[in-house]
Formats: sequence, C-alpha cells, structure tokens
Amino acid sequence: MQPQSLDDGLVMRTAQADDVPAIIEHVMAVHGEEVVNGVRAMYAHHPRKSWEDCFLIVDERSGTVVSSLILLPGSWMLDGVEVPVAQMEAVGTLKEYRNRGLIHKLNVEFEKRIEAHGSVVQVIAGIPNFYRSFGYEYGADLGGGFPVAPSLVPKLPEGEDEPVEIEAVDQKGLKGYLAYREQAMPPGTWVKAIKPADFKYYNFDAPNPKTEGWFFHVVRENSKIVGIFILSRWESRLDIIDLYLDSFSHVDSVLRFALSKSEEYGGHTVRVAPPNQSQIWEFVQARTGTALRHRYSWYVKIPSVERFLQAIAPVLRKRLCGSDYKDFVGELKVTDYKQGLAIQIDKCNITEIREMAEKDPGGYDLRLPHGALTRLVMGYETIDELQSHEPDTICRASMLPLVRALFPKLRATVDPFY
Ligand SMILES: CC(C)(COP(=O)(O)OP(=O)(O)OC[C@H]1O[C@@H](n2cnc3c(N)ncnc32)[C@H](O)[C@@H]1OP(=O)(O)O)[C@@H](O)C(=O)NCCC(=O)NCCS
Repeated sequence: MQPQSLDDGLVMRTAQADDVPAIIEHVMAVHGEEVVNGVRAMYAHHPRKSWEDCFLIVDERSGTVVSSLILLPGSWMLDGVEVPVAQMEAVGTLKEYRNRGLIHKLNVEFEKRIEAHGSVVQVIAGIPNFYRSFGYEYGADLGGGFPVAPSLVPKLPEGEDEPVEIEAVDQKGLKGYLAYREQAMPPGTWVKAIKPADFKYYNFDAPNPKTEGWFFHVVRENSKIVGIFILSRWESRLDIIDLYLDSFSHVDSVLRFALSKSEEYGGHTVRVAPPNQSQIWEFVQARTGTALRHRYSWYVKIPSVERFLQAIAPVLRKRLCGSDYKDFVGELKVTDYKQGLAIQIDKCNITEIREMAEKDPGGYDLRLPHGALTRLVMGYETIDELQSHEPDTICRASMLPLVRALFPKLRATVDPFY
C-alpha cells in the first residue's frame, strides 16, 4: 500500500518494525494495559504476520498512531478440512479522532489485502454491531462458559494425591498436545487450527495477572497424555478452553488446578468454555450446577460463496453421502438476490460450482439475502430457522430436504479467540 495523505496532517500507511513502540502506546490508550502483551505478540511473534497487513493512520506532526488494525492470516477446521481465514484484530481509534471515518478508510485497505491473500472467510471477534457496516454477519458461536463456584468442586481427600498430573506445555511439548487435539477434534464443529509455529505467539510472557494470557497444559496419567486444555486469562476471568479428556473423571482435577491458578492470580472467576465432548459437557454442567452463560458470536464475512463452497466441498460430499441424496444427480441453484450460483451434484460429489447470469430470483431453487446465506453455509442457522423469521428466505419445496442435508446446524468452539 502506498502512503496516503488524509486531511489534518494524517497519513494512512502500513506499519514497519520501528512503529511498534508508537503502536503499543496507541493500544494502551485505546484498549488498556490488559491486552498490550497480546498485541505486542501479534507484531513480534505471529508466524504469518506481514507488515503489509498492519494498517495505521499516523499524525505525522507528532508521530502518534491515531488509528490502527491488523490482518492475521490463519485457518479454521471443519470436519478435517482446513479453511483459510483472515482475522481482523486490534481495531481502534484514539478518542479524539473517532467518528471521522478512519476505521472505514483502513477497512478499504484491509479488503484489498484480502483479495491478495485469497482468504475464504473473514472473521472478527468484535464489539456489538459495528462490523455489520463492513458486511460482516454473526456466523459462528464464540466464547461463553460454565462459571465454576469453588464450593461445588470436591476437595481432594486429606493425604491423597491428584489421580492425574497437569503439566504446562512448552514448544517441545506442543507436539504431544496437538497430536492429542487432532484425534479429539469433534465432527460438526468449527475449530481453530493451531500450528507448532503458533506457540511462540500464544505463549508470550504474561507474568502480570491483570493482563491476558494463554497457558497450554496436558493432563497425564502414568506419564501418558489423557487430556489437554488451555487456561485463557482475560477480563478478570480464567477460562478453561480447548478442553479434551479421555475420561470425565479427570474434570475435577482440571477444575481444582484452575481454581488454584485463579487464587494465585488474585481471584479470577473460573469458567469452563463449552466442551466438545458430550460426556464432558454434561459432567461440567452437572458439577457447576449452572447453564452455559454469556455466549457471543464471531462476525463472519464470506467474500466469495463459490470459493467457500469449493473449500468445504469434501465436507459437503460427506454430508450428501450420509443422506437420502447419496444418489442425487442434479443442480441446486442459489441466489442472494444479487449473484447466482449453480451447485452441480453427481452422487455425493460436487462436480462444479458455477456462476449464473439469471437475474430473475424465480429462476433459483433457493433465494435469500447475502447475510442469511452466510449464516446458512456457516451452519449458524438452518434453512428452517431462517425461514421461520426471514420471509425473503425462500426455497423450492422439492429442494428443501437437499438444502437441509447440505447445510446442517454446526457448533463452533474457535479458541483461542486471537
Ligand atoms: C469502534 C471504533 C474502532 C470506531 O473507530 P472510528 O475511527 O471512530 O470509526 P469510523 O469513524 O470509521 O466509524 C464510525 C461510525 O461507526 C459508528 N459506530 C461506532 N460504534 C458503533 C457500533 N458499535 N455499532 C454501530 N455503529 C457504530 C459511529 O456512530 C460512526 O457512524 P457515522 O459514520 O454514521 O458517524 C472506536 O470507537 C474505538 O476505538 N473504540 C474503542 C475500542 C474498540 O471497541 N475497538 C473495537 C474492538 S473489536
């Protein structure tokens, strides 16, 4: 991106290494101390960060960074398929410069980089409502948890040791963590891909309990890994995320460990993020005596539905093979009232996805506004849910069962959220 002069002595440009101190000062002023180490790690250690993806607006007279955001490339997994994702992060403008369109200007440059990256999905775990103006939709569950009341967790009987050992993971130990995670990954759930190269980024030094941090752990029984989890410390909470265990009987040990860490940090509320294993979910719910609370949602933008469907074609194939449509040969024609697509299916296989020039919405089997289409293909809402409250989601009755088979409801536990 070429630097662009804006009014009032401001310049919009990409960042470079020597901007980091000014960026950190900006982050301190906009978001506070809590996130500073995490944002510093984005600039210093994110394995896929490029300076071309770090956007700033600077007051050239003082050198102050007045507005900034960053694009972090990564991927989400769905049923073993890796989907390239561009995450927008660390979005902020100094108070005195707000409502002048600065983030909107930075977003124009962000979108140009998306084209260069070829990302299939754009995401942000952002503040309520704001990102709708950039074309994002709520499209996948985010966060929330079961709060853990210490008095409900059984104490270890006097003189007894924990039945399992809990060990902090270092770069070397991450291999075992990821191998366990891969075999535990649940079907029908969006999950974040974590790579060995990500460890240095996530595992930044976070000695101050008031700041965010991620702490990877394995659970061992007779030295064998029988579980994994991450302690995610943020906003005075200590969340147990990415929790997978061989047995529900180890949940109490994990809870006791998290509660002791919380005491060390000065009394953070411990929560368990919704576990993917159904038995662990039930046990955690019973143990905490509470329902899942405070779920939010990822903003999702799908720049090309055609590219998205091509990326998840192996998932669509599995869905069709397991449905009444395993022998179906034909086309599903879909429009968002602006653009049209024909998905050609031949006995479970998606053989072609092609653009359609047809302008008459009546020429399509499924028509729905782009936002509803995003929620459908992400599995955030089913066709029946959409039809129950959005009258402009219309599907030819004969194709309704096919749409149900292709796009079922999905869960999402996309952690860590940066
Ligand atoms: C949110 C924030 C980044 C916007 O920055 P900005 O430079 O003022 O953004 P822009 O000027 O490009 O856009 C402002 C417009 O969005 C609107 N807006 C602000 N917050 C909004 C919200 N939550 N929902 C809808 N619209 C919102 C403003 O009213 C304004 O509308 P207008 O253009 O019609 O006047 C800035 O307020 C900020 O830094 N907030 C604190 C940190 C934060 O919350 N960051 C986001 C973390 S995900």
